Amino acid sequence: QSFSPEVEAEIDRHIAKYPVKRSAILPIMFIVQRERGYLDAAGIAYIARRLDLTITDVWEVATFYTMINLKPVGKYHIQVCRTLSCQLLGAEKIVEHISKRLGIKPGETTPDGRFTLSWVECLGSCGTAPAMQIGFDYYENLTPERVDEILDSLKE
Ligand code: FES
Repeated sequence: QSFSPEVEAEIDRHIAKYPVKRSAILPIMFIVQRERGYLDAAGIAYIARRLDLTITDVWEVATFYTMINLKPVGKYHIQVCRTLSCQLLGAEKIVEHISKRLGIKPGETTPDGRFTLSWVECLGSCGTAPAMQIGFDYYENLTPERVDEILDSLKE
């Protein structure tokens, strides 16, 4: 597997920024995920080859971060924070509400490929918990009613 010359050059620039190649692993993972939508076995092998790492080295990092998708995700990837502030302020209730509305549990995608629901770690919005991220948009102070409004506003 390889990418377009532009993407390969972007990856080279990241590798050149660090004194040791392996330090570029996260930016490169995000590029591979951006290009392919998720990180599959071929993506992991590609990163290992580019950074002179083993598949296990890359796998360990990929499985540690909840923002790395190891499976394809839906058009709208709903990521609800499960860290302390959000947990205390009702994240569980938010996920239950979304699960009921969409008929999927965390880790699942709707059959039409529109929505994936995931738990993630702190989104940096602890003062306005509970919070979630959909794609690159952030939503705070969530209530089940607010979640309904947000989901209703998403385009077909
Ligand atoms: Fe949820 Fe920080 S604990 S955003």
